[in-house]
Amino acid sequence: MAELKDLPLREELRGSSAYGAPQLTVTNQLNTNENPYSPSEALVRDMVKAVEKHATELNRYPERDAVELRTALADYVSEQTGVAVSVDNVWAANGSNEVLQQLLQAFGGPGRSALGFTPSYSMHPILCAGTQTEFISSPRDEDFRIDEEAALRDVEKHQPDVIFITTPNNPTGDVTPIELVEKIIQAAPGIVIVDEAYMEFSASPSATTLLEKYPTKLVVSRTMSKAFDFAGGRLGYLVADPAFVEAVMLVRLPYHLSVLSQIAAIVAIEHKDETLSTVAKLSAERERVVNRLEELGYYVVPSESNFVSFGRFADQHAVWQGFLDRDVLIRDNGVPGLLRATIGLPQENDAFLSAAADLADTVEMVKR
Ligand SMILES: Cc1ncc(COP(=O)(O)O)c(C=O)c1O
Repeated sequence: MAELKDLPLREELRGSSAYGAPQLTVTNQLNTNENPYSPSEALVRDMVKAVEKHATELNRYPERDAVELRTALADYVSEQTGVAVSVDNVWAANGSNEVLQQLLQAFGGPGRSALGFTPSYSMHPILCAGTQTEFISSPRDEDFRIDEEAALRDVEKHQPDVIFITTPNNPTGDVTPIELVEKIIQAAPGIVIVDEAYMEFSASPSATTLLEKYPTKLVVSRTMSKAFDFAGGRLGYLVADPAFVEAVMLVRLPYHLSVLSQIAAIVAIEHKDETLSTVAKLSAERERVVNRLEELGYYVVPSESNFVSFGRFADQHAVWQGFLDRDVLIRDNGVPGLLRATIGLPQENDAFLSAAADLADTVEMVKR
């Protein structure tokens, strides 16, 4: 058998490792920011019916532009954000990761750069590497917020073709104020992708409210993987001026969204009211978890998402192992001093908090 190093791989991919949170079998799985509630029985029933109906057509390619699905998404976005958008403003793909990749294929590439405010979503630099886009890191401040002065300075200095703003940010959970998002858009020489994967968990305004003002610069990326309870369905989308939809159509693979993906997502959107009712439950649980962690003496980054980042640990990986030893799988994103825990079902959060209480007296904490 050959080894990776023996292959004529592109030079810049040598030595990098594939993305992946450990998929371990643990009772309390709080490491990938999914919605812990299973889809409702009514949703499952309707999905089975829809699959049965469309299974007879699987000899044919899917509807290439996913118009029905994009219309349903546009209606949802209009309702959720209060910004009226139509099918022409929305593009869908297999997870927002694919949307982001398509945007980089169209707007990044050799000789171009993308800037992100780190620590942030680890796939942004990986997608840049895959599209030969240079990734530039602009560090957040000590409390993991975007430092306005440093951010605007870095944008001015590097003149990036693409800027990523993740809000609420992953892995820290905090929101970037919309006023600062707008200042960055104004300073940007190229496009700004606001990654709103967790926006339904936040009370802050969506960047879609800025779309009309910045039609040639702003793209908002969203997903059905988190609040929408549909991570396994793989459905992400963007909201932007119709010109951006035209742009990603130049690089998308033909028939990229299967018949099954499209109908499953349409059914999931039809059941959005029951699915999205879990958001309030998860937000209430998040407050309970944050309060208890603070009581136990942990530092917690303010979160408006379905996870919390906490610390500050002298050796976060050892603490991660401590949780795993107590049957709780959380995430070490490699941010020094911090660990991230997804908000799960109440009993999973209890298990997490009981492990946190157990560990509180023994782990070594550090100041910033
Ligand atoms: C900030 C952020 N953006 C995008 C994604 C990608 O999600 P998906 O490809 O499942 O839509 C994630 C997933 O964890 C995320 O945290």
